Amino acid sequence: MVRKLTDSATDRSETSRLVEAIGRLLPALERFNRYDGPDPAAQDRERWQDRLNQPLPEHGSGLDDVLSELAEVVIPHGLRNGAPGFSGWVTTAPTTAGTAASLAATVAGSQRWWLQPFNYLESVALRWLADLLGLPSSWQGTFTAGGSSANLVALGAARQQAFERLGHDPARGGLPSLPARIYASTEVHHVVIRAGAVLGLGREAVVGIPVDAGGRIQLDDLRRILEEDRSAGVVPVALVATAGTVNTGAVDPIAPMADLATEFGSWLHVDGAYGLFGRLDERVAALYEGLERADSAVVDPHKWLATPMGIGAVFVRDRSLLGRAFTLEPAAYLEGAVDSEADISSPFDSFGELFHDFNLDQSAPSRGAVVWAVLREIGADGMRQRVQRHNDFARRLAELVGADERLELLAAPTLSICCFRYRAPGIDDATLDRINAEISHRLRAETPYVPSSTRVAGRFAIRPCYINPRTTLNEVDGLARSVREIGDRIANEQGVLKSA
Ligand SMILES: Cc1ncc(COP(=O)(O)O)c(C=O)c1O
Repeated sequence: MVRKLTDSATDRSETSRLVEAIGRLLPALERFNRYDGPDPAAQDRERWQDRLNQPLPEHGSGLDDVLSELAEVVIPHGLRNGAPGFSGWVTTAPTTAGTAASLAATVAGSQRWWLQPFNYLESVALRWLADLLGLPSSWQGTFTAGGSSANLVALGAARQQAFERLGHDPARGGLPSLPARIYASTEVHHVVIRAGAVLGLGREAVVGIPVDAGGRIQLDDLRRILEEDRSAGVVPVALVATAGTVNTGAVDPIAPMADLATEFGSWLHVDGAYGLFGRLDERVAALYEGLERADSAVVDPHKWLATPMGIGAVFVRDRSLLGRAFTLEPAAYLEGAVDSEADISSPFDSFGELFHDFNLDQSAPSRGAVVWAVLREIGADGMRQRVQRHNDFARRLAELVGADERLELLAAPTLSICCFRYRAPGIDDATLDRINAEISHRLRAETPYVPSSTRVAGRFAIRPCYINPRTTLNEVDGLARSVREIGDRIANEQGVLKSA
């Protein structure tokens, strides 16, 4: 007997009123996007946490309440890493085209598969990115959730190749018990070390090779360790060249690393999550020589391209390796979903370009639509100008630092990062570390300038990284000025300037 259902309603979730709902948020978003006045998130912390810290509602309070809470509580206290003075990390807030495309993809392209524009734009955007970066046109790419997964996917292909060469299929049979290593500089991003763990090689399998004074991998040490390992029967899974280290923006010598990779029978991977875009500045383009000889490269559109968060990209010379490493098994629930390509009468008759066989996600948003939108808006030339402008900012800051006897350059900029510190004569390094840490803290509390920090040769460094399209020269000059002023103030407060 068929049960009788009387309620004709579909669900309590609103599935229409989109224009009204987004319209309700827009004034709050516009206001947020201006980054006016002091950032209220820290001061108002108790208030917004109290408002949000509610038990799971048994009965939902409806869309209007959600919109009010978003507009009044959440958005105004959001993360201001898009403010012009923010130069910390290697991420920023998205620009308008990317935000709009992201909304479009959320609503009208909620899966990147199937025969529809949001699938097609994955391919178009990957091709555009490869063109922009001068990657060989035969390389194939796929979007990922960010640099972590992009590096993991690339190194998954490297692992596949290394063990296939020895007659094992690691994706199918697991890893044979053979010692295997990934070689990278000590400046490698820690997500590469985690990738070693996730790929079953182990974190300790990622060997940290010392760097030279410019933060670049020492080739002699790399060669020596590769030779020792070869004698010991270690499988060289990959050499990782970082093209734009997160600490100082150094670019490893790719061409000599390509020579070593060939000589030792290893994969060459280039982690350019931040710095591959640096190649667009012709003044430093030569640093990327040899890139076309790599086996894989990673770049993050959610960094310098300023797309919304959650977009990395990986390109490989031989995508069949990605396929063997990451393909999905045939699934009964997809049986009959896709008929012959010749008989397509619905978008659901074709997967479109298959991306889920080449990376970690099955279901995924169309990241390509977002990258496409940003590149369509500003073009290759706009991106070239952005990269040059930001590299100029770092150089300008280095000049300001050089011209001030109380500031010290700790790493000359290669790309758009400038590492420096406050320094007054007669103060030891430990005290300078404490003073510069306090300067960083007061910059965040008292000024619009928010760089991050790092250590360069053991010293605490103030580290702006310019990728934010909203930043102007004013913020660059303001940062140098503020570090000097705050540094003098702290040194006076602590009485350490007396000895000067
Ligand atoms: C060189 C490099 N690799 C990888 C990553 C990790 O990328 P994500 O944070 O997108 O996972 C970063 C992030 O800053 C990076 O600078």
